[in-house]
Amino acid sequence: MAQEDVFKKLVAHCKEYGFVFPSSEIYDGLGAVYDYGQHGVELKNNIKKYWWDSMVLLHENVVGIDSAIFMHPTIWKASGHVDAFNDPLIDNKDSKKRYRADVLIEEYLGKLEDKAQKEVDKARKRFGESFDEQMFRQTNGRVQEIMSQHDAVHTRFAKALNDADFEEIRQIIIDCEIVCPISGTKNWTDVRQFNLMFSTEMGSTSDGALKVYLRPETAQGIFVNYLNVQKTGRMKIPFGIAQIGKAFRNEIVARQFIFRMREFEQMEMQFFVRPGSELDWFKTWKATRLSWHKALGFGDENYRFHEHEKLAHYANAAVDIEYRFPFGFKEVEGIHSRTNFDLSQHQQFSGKKIQYFDPELNESYVPYVVETSIGVDRMFLQIVSAAYCEEELVSEGKKDTRVVLKFPAALAPVKLAVLPLVKKDGLPEKAREIINSLKFDFNCQYDEKDSIGKRYRRQDAIGTPFCVTVDHQTPEDNTVTIRYRDTMLQERVPIDQLHDIISEKVSLKSLFAKIV
Ligand code: GAP
Repeated sequence: MAQEDVFKKLVAHCKEYGFVFPSSEIYDGLGAVYDYGQHGVELKNNIKKYWWDSMVLLHENVVGIDSAIFMHPTIWKASGHVDAFNDPLIDNKDSKKRYRADVLIEEYLGKLEDKAQKEVDKARKRFGESFDEQMFRQTNGRVQEIMSQHDAVHTRFAKALNDADFEEIRQIIIDCEIVCPISGTKNWTDVRQFNLMFSTEMGSTSDGALKVYLRPETAQGIFVNYLNVQKTGRMKIPFGIAQIGKAFRNEIVARQFIFRMREFEQMEMQFFVRPGSELDWFKTWKATRLSWHKALGFGDENYRFHEHEKLAHYANAAVDIEYRFPFGFKEVEGIHSRTNFDLSQHQQFSGKKIQYFDPELNESYVPYVVETSIGVDRMFLQIVSAAYCEEELVSEGKKDTRVVLKFPAALAPVKLAVLPLVKKDGLPEKAREIINSLKFDFNCQYDEKDSIGKRYRRQDAIGTPFCVTVDHQTPEDNTVTIRYRDTMLQERVPIDQLHDIISEKVSLKSLFAKIV
């Protein structure tokens, strides 16, 4: 099935099973804003817990905060967001559709990469085991031709971005004959800059209302609390401050479901270090964060690093962790070495000294910062994309299919369903008893409607790792069957072993053990 079709199905599945709904749907929705349903919120909370605990429980020198969304507007002047938090936009004069000029070029480059990859895949099939991809890429004329075209555009694009040369960005779009997907024409406007921050007013107009911004990143709330946390927590460098919270960006093109939203959530950690040590810490956090992703077991080959072509105004090194979504490799997380830019700017704009006295060096300095920044919603989409499976089955000689979300058990919204085989003979009461003994530790669901097969399918569709069935043998010997979602195998176990079986599998500890 084409990857776009898989993605469409996944979006429909998220709605049908209570994961994600379009916001304000009964009023026809609001562009790029979404609500999380009853299962979505549980998955989201589990993702946040996985991140939070991996930061503040696993690192004794990382602590958390929760800062306000509204902040003093000068913060955004100091951070550079008022002047430089822009995207280059371009309009197609025929369709009147607006695009991010950089994204149009990145998509063009992505298509060339795919074209080369297709040649590689064809050759791999032809040559089988003996295939040497590196050698093939270096010697095959067709691949070389595609990649040299790719590299030429890529070099021009990187330079144009670095020089903020918008005429050249437009020229690349024209030269590459990039057309509007709606009108199919190359009738483009000039490229212009567009600031992504939302603003509103605080206070009544008679008081002289203050223009405030909805924060476009949570990081600034950490920077402006650096002194508070360092002093009250008696923190010694190196140390980190972690935060989870909402961020807002007036994205020009909001597409691909919850991948790019106007209201979203970030999980950010600023790690304050001695000047000169930041690139070593950058390397360390790069490795730690990649292993956090890989621990989920979705296949190491589906992750890669992408070094930034153009460094943000505050960074001296930056890399993205990308995941292979159904629509290609895309950023899930950014790791940035932000120098001492932000703290220095806040020191200058606020007039307050923001420094650390390092007792080992016997000197004061403005700390350098390594940041890890990941979107909760994007991570959610990554997990749902990776977990979504359509399987062909043969059951009792008949062909069947099932849709199953193969979430890591620790992140699954519902951990177990308890299902009485029939609605009589004391089986529902027994099932309730089991739920009552487990509900304080695990999110459980009770379901007695429809055939047992249909109930299993419903649980597969929301990714429940365990289904416990109470049958006529249960009242006799206090045993039940436990069915495992991925293998669909069942085994008979005593009720008093359920807690241990489930808790071992759903504990975050099993994931933490895999993080470097
Ligand atoms: N403080 C640094 C910062 O905000 P970023 O690369 O702009 O860096 C970090 O954002 C992460 O936040 C991204 O990797 C992505 O996961 C998430 N993110 C950014 N913009 C988003 C949007 N419009 N919708 C959903 N997630 C977004």
